[in-house]
Amino acid sequence: MRPEKLREQKDVADAEAIVTTNLLGPIRLTAALLPHLQKQPRSTIINVTSGLAFLPLAVTPTYCATKAALHSYTLSLRYQLKDTTTEVVELVPPYVATDLMSGASDPRAMPLAAFITEVMNILKTQPTPPEICVENVKRLRFAAESGKFDAIFQGLNAAMADVH
Ligand SMILES: NC(=O)c1ccc[n+]([C@@H]2O[C@H](COP(=O)([O-])OP(=O)(O)OC[C@H]3O[C@@H](n4cnc5c(N)ncnc54)[C@H](OP(=O)(O)O)[C@@H]3O)[C@@H](O)[C@H]2O)c1
Repeated sequence: MRPEKLREQKDVADAEAIVTTNLLGPIRLTAALLPHLQKQPRSTIINVTSGLAFLPLAVTPTYCATKAALHSYTLSLRYQLKDTTTEVVELVPPYVATDLMSGASDPRAMPLAAFITEVMNILKTQPTPPEICVENVKRLRFAAESGKFDAIFQGLNAAMADVH
């Protein structure tokens, strides 16, 4: 997750690196592991996207685009595997206090321990939900469905313009 100033961008090396890690990484892992997973009695693929897959943070354009793409890829993967023993789950984190960008020191980020506890509780529900969404991410995840996409987009990007 790297900020990009699109008006000053001299080359796209950062953007290419983000696509390689965030999008090609899961695609390559899926291709490499699926033959093995399909031989197991049960298996689960969990792809990690983001609330920003559903409503972009403009300071990190390529990162958000790769997460939107990974959401789309995950839908297709789940559909193609629907009659197999491999289930496909999407973990949709909100802003969590980790080493990703400035999250660890930002009080706006959800504490990591609270995030893990809530995720593990959701994962215990059976059948496993196709999307793991903690309460904190629902405003972003369902921004379009709520009919307030434009207002949330403007508000988030005004509030988070200082993230770097
Ligand atoms: N934290 C958030 O607010 C947040 C929100 C939504 C989604 N997410 C997603 O959650 C996932 C985990 O992120 P995190 O918050 O735990 O961040 P993190 O603490 O910075 O961890 C990122 C991990 O990715 C690895 N990594 C980075 N570049 C890599 C590369 N080119 N090849 C292989 N591994 C690489 C890092 O490995 P090294 O330790 O070896 O560098 C590290 O283990 C990511 O997919 C992120 O997009 C995070």
